[in-house]
Amino acid sequence: MKVLGIETSCDETSAAVVAEDNRVLSNVVLSQDEYFKPFFGVVPEIASRRHLEVIQQVVQQALERAGLSLQEVDLIAATQKPGLIGSLLVGFTYAKALSFSTGKPLVPVDHLHAHIYAAFLENNPPLPAVGVVVSGGHTAAFLVDSQLNFKNIARTRDDAAGEALDKIAKALNLGYPGGPIIDRLSKQGDPDRFSFPFPKLKDASLDFSFSGIKAAAVRMIEKLGINKEHPDFYNFIASFQKSIVEYLLRRVEEILQRYPSRSLILAGGVARNSYLRERFHSWAERRGIRLTIPPGKYCTDNAAMVAALGAQLYKLKGITASLWDTAFSRTEASKGVKQFLSGARH
Ligand code: KG4
Ligand code: ZN
Repeated sequence: MKVLGIETSCDETSAAVVAEDNRVLSNVVLSQDEYFKPFFGVVPEIASRRHLEVIQQVVQQALERAGLSLQEVDLIAATQKPGLIGSLLVGFTYAKALSFSTGKPLVPVDHLHAHIYAAFLENNPPLPAVGVVVSGGHTAAFLVDSQLNFKNIARTRDDAAGEALDKIAKALNLGYPGGPIIDRLSKQGDPDRFSFPFPKLKDASLDFSFSGIKAAAVRMIEKLGINKEHPDFYNFIASFQKSIVEYLLRRVEEILQRYPSRSLILAGGVARNSYLRERFHSWAERRGIRLTIPPGKYCTDNAAMVAALGAQLYKLKGITASLWDTAFSRTEASKGVKQFLSGARH
């Protein structure tokens, strides 16, 4: 079985062809980063227009690189949620049109589950596993069982980890996306020069919170006048990056204590971070924990992970979308309507 995957949940337009055994035959990722540099972040309206302009050529390229025609593909998988609604609509609607015109089944894929499934592209992590997505839009943990069911056990209460990195890069006028820039610059700094307080949630939940560390960093930037000329510039950046990673590590330790599992998966754009990878790998080795972090190209948004998970959802559970399904799941849409109505009543 060969699966065409389409991913447009944020600002990457991506299409890929993946075989049923998780072999990636092609993976085309067209980044829009250049468009968002002046804004230090994604502008949803620009992102969806750009997806619309390039989706056809990106899909075409993915098929060409895989050496297949659309007719030779068995299945189409597309990211349905979560993400920017305009961006999601472009990819999911395009996939629906392809499915309708070719008669091939369409599988709706959850973006966060796909991030975790990226760990299976070149590895075979033992299940059940705890999977943690650390990205620009999300930080969330899941229990993943042998049927590839994903049960959400923690999420961020405020900023995502990548969002915090991007915002501090913006506060220091470093560019966008901030995560890779902070990763690079941190190598020149002393990560122990500054410390940032870790948030404490008042309840017993395992949720994440990154806004406190970010706010403390913003206050420090203002108080100490940190900028590119400041003698502690690199030390500040390295210390901030370390705090994000250490906080994440501490939280993951707590999650594993409550949910003992056969392995740990870390995925999402921030899992590309070189300090994070080193730190988690050495920690896992010491503790005897089976850790899988996908190769960098499968951490940031890509359609290979969507196609690969789509194949499993179809094979194991027979999941398909109908023409009535849209880039919002129905339950979310009805939740939205209920919220709107209850808000309107008060
Ligand atoms: O998974 P992703 O491509 O998109 C979302 O689903 O959000 O993640 C993008 C995030 C951005 O915040 C970006 O700054 C961060 O991943 N990122 C990194 C690195 N590469 C990308 N953060 C830290 N170090 C990196 N090397
Ligand atoms: Zn993502």
